Amino acid sequence: MVGVIAESAHLSPSSLRPEVPLELYDSLRDQRLAALRAGFFPRLPTGAPIILEVGCGHGHYLNAYAAAHPQEYCVGLDLIADRIARAERKASRARLSNLAFVQAEASLFLGALAEQPVPVRLRRVFVLFSDPWPKRRHWKNRVVQPGLLDLLGKLTEPGAAFHFRTDHPEYFTFAREVVAAHPLWRLEVEDTVTWPFEYVSVFEERSLAGAPRSFTAVRC
Ligand SMILES: C[S@@+](CC[C@H](N)C(=O)[O-])C[C@H]1O[C@@H](n2cnc3c(N)ncnc32)[C@H](O)[C@@H]1O
Repeated sequence: MVGVIAESAHLSPSSLRPEVPLELYDSLRDQRLAALRAGFFPRLPTGAPIILEVGCGHGHYLNAYAAAHPQEYCVGLDLIADRIARAERKASRARLSNLAFVQAEASLFLGALAEQPVPVRLRRVFVLFSDPWPKRRHWKNRVVQPGLLDLLGKLTEPGAAFHFRTDHPEYFTFAREVVAAHPLWRLEVEDTVTWPFEYVSVFEERSLAGAPRSFTAVRC
């Protein structure tokens, strides 16, 4: 499944919008959503737990996770084509068949996935070293938002897990507060956070900001 949908699934509003007129952007986005609906979504396995990484970057973490969990199926999303291409090359070299990478904006992808006639259930969702957007006026660009948690709520059952890790203390507090305020997610007590799999991602390796902090929330 690696690489199968790369050509058809590019779905990145921020990378397309400045370059094309709005109508063309809308039509490209619709075409790409249609391609996901027709090609990728129906091929997601129904019997295996599905693991999602939002903002997978170069795919180091998800490739390692997939190699260590052959019974699970992993999907990595990222806005940037080059990162998706690198992630796919790693998966191909390792001959992993239980993961796919998609160039897509997370909310668009998840919104379309939530409307699929056959329900898809995510077992775990990772958000690792997500862009912190430190300036207040840019906080709206942060990945962790109530709307994302609403969508993940539609795609999960009670007991599913949301795992967040960052080296940015202020984003850690922000994300924890957003999750704590959401009725569908219950935060684990900070000292008892269970982390399912350790592997250093590219941005974790590059981090100069000191010890990362993590939290896990469980779907109520
Ligand atoms: C700082 S990198 C971290 C990558 C990886 N998780 C790691 O730890 O190495 C954050 C990634 O999230 C992606 N990203 C940001 N907003 C996104 C969104 N709304 N949907 C999908 N990907 C997004 C960016 O393109 C970037 O590659």
